[in-house]
Amino acid sequence: MSPDWDALRAAAIEAAASAYCPYSGLQVGAAALVSDGRMVTGCNVENASYGLGLCAECTMAGQLRLTGGGRFVAVSCRSGTGDLLMPCGRCRQILHEFGGPDCLLDTPQGILPMTKVLPDAFGPEHLPT
Ligand code: THU
Repeated sequence: MSPDWDALRAAAIEAAASAYCPYSGLQVGAAALVSDGRMVTGCNVENASYGLGLCAECTMAGQLRLTGGGRFVAVSCRSGTGDLLMPCGRCRQILHEFGGPDCLLDTPQGILPMTKVLPDAFGPEHLPT
């Protein structure tokens, strides 16, 4: 499955318009191609209790589950003004959970697999059986 990166970027920017970010003022949108060919998106949702804010990748993981499951194949994150944003460390782990080491990410260095942006990732194989 070959990702349409322009479509993913456009979907991420569109998702960012739904952000709830009265505290940071930074609209963030995430968009992913899913293993069954559909696209899912997310936006950041902040909270007056700052530490409870949800990143765009986090709400996108919820959308993945709510709309049929599957795996992330390719992910793009953008601000509301179209700037490329890299997922924070926590969100890289969330993307890894649902996309694994081969999931592709739109980065300032080009398209990279998760193995490059979250090397030696912790995963379910590290848990006791
Ligand atoms: N944010 C995301 O949505 N994703 C990230 O990977 C990094 C940060 C959001 C969280 C907060 O609402 C705003 O960006 C500023 O940190």
